[in-house]
Amino acid sequence: MKKVSVSAPGKLMLLGEHAVVYDRPCIVTAVDQRLIVKIEKTSKGRFEFESSDVNISNHSKYLTEIGTGEIPRGAKFVELAIKNTYDKFGLKEGLKIKTKSEFSPLYGFGSSSASTVSVIKGLSELFKLRLSDRDIFDLAYKTILDVQKIGSGFDIAAAIWGGTIFFTKGAEIVEPLISETQSEYVIGYSGVKADTASLVRDIKNKLDNNQKKVNRIFDAIAKIVNEAKERFVEGDWERVGKLMNFNQEYLRNLGVSTQKIEDMIYAAKKAGAYGAKLSGAGGGDCMIAIVGSKVKKKVESAITAAGGEVMDIKISAPGVRVETSDDPKELFIVINEDDKVLDFKTRYDCHHDKSFIHRTVGILIYNQKGELLLQKRSSTKDMDSGLWAISAAGHVIKGQTYDEAMRRELKEELGISIPIKRIKKFISKSKNETEMAVLYEGYSDGPFKINPEETEKIEFYSLRKLKFFVESNILKIAPDSVNTLKEAEII
Ligand code: MEV
Repeated sequence: MKKVSVSAPGKLMLLGEHAVVYDRPCIVTAVDQRLIVKIEKTSKGRFEFESSDVNISNHSKYLTEIGTGEIPRGAKFVELAIKNTYDKFGLKEGLKIKTKSEFSPLYGFGSSSASTVSVIKGLSELFKLRLSDRDIFDLAYKTILDVQKIGSGFDIAAAIWGGTIFFTKGAEIVEPLISETQSEYVIGYSGVKADTASLVRDIKNKLDNNQKKVNRIFDAIAKIVNEAKERFVEGDWERVGKLMNFNQEYLRNLGVSTQKIEDMIYAAKKAGAYGAKLSGAGGGDCMIAIVGSKVKKKVESAITAAGGEVMDIKISAPGVRVETSDDPKELFIVINEDDKVLDFKTRYDCHHDKSFIHRTVGILIYNQKGELLLQKRSSTKDMDSGLWAISAAGHVIKGQTYDEAMRRELKEELGISIPIKRIKKFISKSKNETEMAVLYEGYSDGPFKINPEETEKIEFYSLRKLKFFVESNILKIAPDSVNTLKEAEII
């Protein structure tokens, strides 16, 4: 693979800022504005960087010099992310990198953390490093600390895992929060760019000067965040709003709010918001109000009238992902419901548009006892990582027939070549994709040779045990494998 394009979301702190730097929890959400990084291998032995968002047209140096000498502000995170990953894995190849942001770096949406995470994920893909989300966090967090010395890493976690998460410093705890109902938010920008690092330093001075008082505030914020976590999952938005108000009082007490932000918060609450607070380090930047859908427009107008800029942003966006690569294996065959070829599309397109029906194969391997072989997908896979799946499966790529794809998957995933029977063809629909699946069946007691890039482990299950494990949710099965097991009348 020579080049890859990766994107990661920005973030918004919902509750718990500052206290999270001192080991209390926070709740952070990923926003639907992304930073895109294009990385290309070169033979020049140089690191070349370009980003119009931060006015860098050509920052270039020999790889042996990265991390040293002159580094423009806008290139710091990318350069150090590369240095840390190159040092750790002994990489040497030249790189050309371009970043493009969907959001202005003015807003504190976390363009540095999104670019750091995207670069490391991109290097993992290009050099087949097979980094897990946790590995990416550790490298990205080190990079952030190298540059700004202090920080909880909450922004990196949002960029990696996406969604809304309950988080503690260094990703000791990363807990996805999924609520039963949808909430509405209004986000307002104060027009004042804040300097996170100096605000975090101010709080550190306050803590050093008055440990007792500041720790008491942090403990109170932690209590608020812990309760908000429960209310968020229940979808009790009125109470979440109240908790945001309490959190804001403590932030005001810490001295990080501004008059403009206070005015916007006051206007939002007066217009009927359940609650509102600043978001991020304070010192200006953004505020966030939680509202019922009926008053949303009114709250938006009130924030605008108070001098804020309302931003159209959705929360709980997906985490880091590979957008495209030049890997020919990525081109899938798009067909109609009669299996007639219409087009060729990338893996990314096929996995993000249910109208692109694409061809796949599924293989069920039984042993002499009639038990079915299942595989646990490795934690580094882009889809269904860590979930259990049928014996082998894969996409039919451009230029391949179903049977050729089946033979390739058997060899790549299980290291076997055996006689196989075609059982049926069916359309399999899941949340994000539609597949035309051909199902095969064969018999083998092994030996099998698994590919750790794809598969963590394999195990035979009797059909009764499998049915019981699936029904009682002891085995978590990938959605397309659930469809296949149903089609094969196993569950
Ligand atoms: C900044 O947006 C949030 C802080 O809590 C800093 C951090 O957690 O790294 C102030």
